[in-house]
Amino acid sequence: MAKTENADVHACTLDKIISLCKRRGFVYQASEIYGGQAGAWDYGPLGVEFKRNIQNEWWHYMTQLHDDVVGLDSAIFQHHTTWKASGHVDHFSDPMVDCIECNARHRADKLIEDFIAANPDVNPGKPVDTMTHDEMKAFIDANINCPTCGSKNRKYTAVREFNLMFKTYQGPIADDSHLIYLRPETCQGIFTDFKNIVQSNRMKVPFGVAQVGKSFRNEIIFKNFIFRTCEFEQMEMEYFCKPGTEDETFDRWRKDRWQFYLKYGIPEKQLKWHHHDKLAHYAKDAYDITYNFPIGFEEIEGIHSRTDFDLSQHQTYSKKDMSYIDQEDGNKKYVPYVIETSAGLNRNFLMFLCEAYEEQNVAKAGEPEDYRTVLHLDPRLAPITVAVLPLMKKDGLAEKAKEIQHMLKEDFVTDYDTSGTVGKRYRRQDEVGTPFCVTVDYDTIQEKKEDGSANELYNTVTVRYRDSMEQERVALDDLVFFIQKAIKNYKPVIR
Ligand code: GAP
Repeated sequence: MAKTENADVHACTLDKIISLCKRRGFVYQASEIYGGQAGAWDYGPLGVEFKRNIQNEWWHYMTQLHDDVVGLDSAIFQHHTTWKASGHVDHFSDPMVDCIECNARHRADKLIEDFIAANPDVNPGKPVDTMTHDEMKAFIDANINCPTCGSKNRKYTAVREFNLMFKTYQGPIADDSHLIYLRPETCQGIFTDFKNIVQSNRMKVPFGVAQVGKSFRNEIIFKNFIFRTCEFEQMEMEYFCKPGTEDETFDRWRKDRWQFYLKYGIPEKQLKWHHHDKLAHYAKDAYDITYNFPIGFEEIEGIHSRTDFDLSQHQTYSKKDMSYIDQEDGNKKYVPYVIETSAGLNRNFLMFLCEAYEEQNVAKAGEPEDYRTVLHLDPRLAPITVAVLPLMKKDGLAEKAKEIQHMLKEDFVTDYDTSGTVGKRYRRQDEVGTPFCVTVDYDTIQEKKEDGSANELYNTVTVRYRDSMEQERVALDDLVFFIQKAIKNYKPVIR
């Protein structure tokens, strides 16, 4: 295969991902016909399959492969005291600053981070997440023109905190006693159900509880497509352990979560740890796993050592005993410590797409360049697993292909495509990451050759691999097992 000459023009960018997502039905702007709803996105026919696959693989990894992790699906609406106890009412905020000239609202810390990224020679003297409001304001006043109106006057309000929780009222009366919040993280339901889970399922500490679901944050800024939005999905796991064992448990889960990403094809060089210098109000230690997006390294998952903060707070506010009696340690009574792994499903979605994306020159040496866009997705994540393509629509090939698709449907998500040349159809499937194409041709349906002899290719199909573009002839009777085996033995493409 000829080498790509101008690598940069063919590099993955966020604009290319956004365009592919819209063109091929992965993600659309929400309420697009009304001009769009800021920070909200709809997942189209392929996007919803892909997102579900990521979620299912996470669930499988966390609950099925870990004997000591069980699942939960708690309500989005929790009693409003939950959020007082968790600290979200008083502390869950971002520093905000307004431009007095155009009234644009900015997140002060992000404004500074973006400025430093664009001007690496300017040094604020300390990490941004440790700056006080006054220090942020002084730095912004001295350096940063409003990115919205471009004014060089730098007239800004004081930096102040803005609570990120969406509020509403339950029932017809809009007063404080009916106040309710959309959850800003999924994990609080795990903490409030801790005792239920211990009692109903006879769980013994240490154990974990996994949950996937929607969270909502009234973000001051949303940018970079689905990276930061007001409505998103989290895949969280709270692991309850004995006080004193939290550091080793923290290290173990850090290693474990890192392995998850390697398992699904993210190369180690694309991942980096970020240690938190300034800890959240509940944390003893915290690291983020960051991924090298086209916009730079950004957080995909947080691993937090949360101490006994959450259970103790719920104990105080609810006046219910949240302690655990450890029968394996002389009936010692304690409030367990918690290690949390908290991944963003939508950010995983974006990461896997960016990592899979390649514009590959498939011309033979000496021929003019010929690029195909291909998503090298792990087959377990790909929205379509097998596409069935009849060589022609006529002569019974289409009917046979439909019959084969019907057979495959029980085990795989399939597609059926008859339009255009087979080469064009392969390209369309490559662009959405379909790992296997099954081509049905005359040999599939003809028992005898033209000379009357037996056709040894009768009842066989061509399986074409997305990554290598190689093809193999497979007997129809073996096809399901053949594809299952190919999925199990899949080796990620190293680029
Ligand atoms: N329970 C802990 C917690 O929520 P977090 O670091 O605030 O921790 C965890 O969030 C993950 O949720 C992040 O690593 C990110 O992947 C995802 N996330 C957070 N805010 C988000 C947003 N506004 N849009 C999309 N994903 C978000």
